[in-house]
Amino acid sequence: MTNTVLEIKNLKAEVEGKEILKGINLTVNSGEIHALMGPNGAGKSTLGEVLIGHPNYKITDGKIMINGKDITYAAPEERARAGLFLAFQNPITVSGVKISTFLRMAYNNLYPNEKMPLKEFFNMVKGVMKDVDMDESFISRAINDGFSGGERKRFEVLQMVILKPKIVILDEIDSGLDVDALKLVSAEIKKMYNENVGFLIITHYQRILKDIAPEFVHVLKDGKIVMNGDKTVSDRIEDEGYDWIKE
Ligand SMILES: Nc1ncnc2c1ncn2[C@@H]1O[C@H](COP(=O)(O)OP(=O)(O)OP(=O)(O)O)[C@@H](O)[C@H]1O
Ligand SMILES: [Mg+2]
Repeated sequence: MTNTVLEIKNLKAEVEGKEILKGINLTVNSGEIHALMGPNGAGKSTLGEVLIGHPNYKITDGKIMINGKDITYAAPEERARAGLFLAFQNPITVSGVKISTFLRMAYNNLYPNEKMPLKEFFNMVKGVMKDVDMDESFISRAINDGFSGGERKRFEVLQMVILKPKIVILDEIDSGLDVDALKLVSAEIKKMYNENVGFLIITHYQRILKDIAPEFVHVLKDGKIVMNGDKTVSDRIEDEGYDWIKE
């Protein structure tokens, strides 16, 4: 198993001229689960978007590195090739592109030398769809078109499993999932964790954290990480909110 490390160093970013991230330092190694918590508007999703290279955000300082390689300004595809995967809080709808086409293209882009036969590839996809309780008929539907909230999340998880990333960022993957779906998603996360994948899980809720037991909990407030701790931090947030954590 190869190790991968995502290093975020003094990262500052702005949107529409407003500074949102004010110097983030965070390291996620493969085989680690980190939870990122924090009040609404703190900049959690912004951090995710900046990590994956969303064009709306302007990085003004700092660095993002994977295994020492600077990817601060790399194109999203290059980040994906370096092993990053991000599931968005509000996934987009890509009308007209079927799930099957999208997954096959994304997979071939990431692993151009693998040349997995089509049949084998789709058997793999169907296997994962079963694991996340997605009906096989979804495979020929257009991405996120008319999907329910929970179906979108399952599709994100399907992508995550199929694309075999090294470091995964999940932005509120647990919001809007029913109890059974949440269990399936947690199970997929744990499976990948056991295969040495690293996770940064953005969440507001204790429920998913109970299932996957993160070793590290970070709190983001007003664009800065104001606390690094363990499960006891998320336990206390559940009881007392964020007021006790000072900036
Ligand atoms: N395009 C934009 N224009 C202006 N402000 C923006 C833009 N995008 C994000 N912001 C602001 O950046 C701040 C951080 O937003 P972000 O979505 O990162 O918060 P968050 O921590 O993910 O919150 P939540 O818990 O509600 O998901 C917010 O105040 C938001 O309004
Ligand atoms: Mg958010």
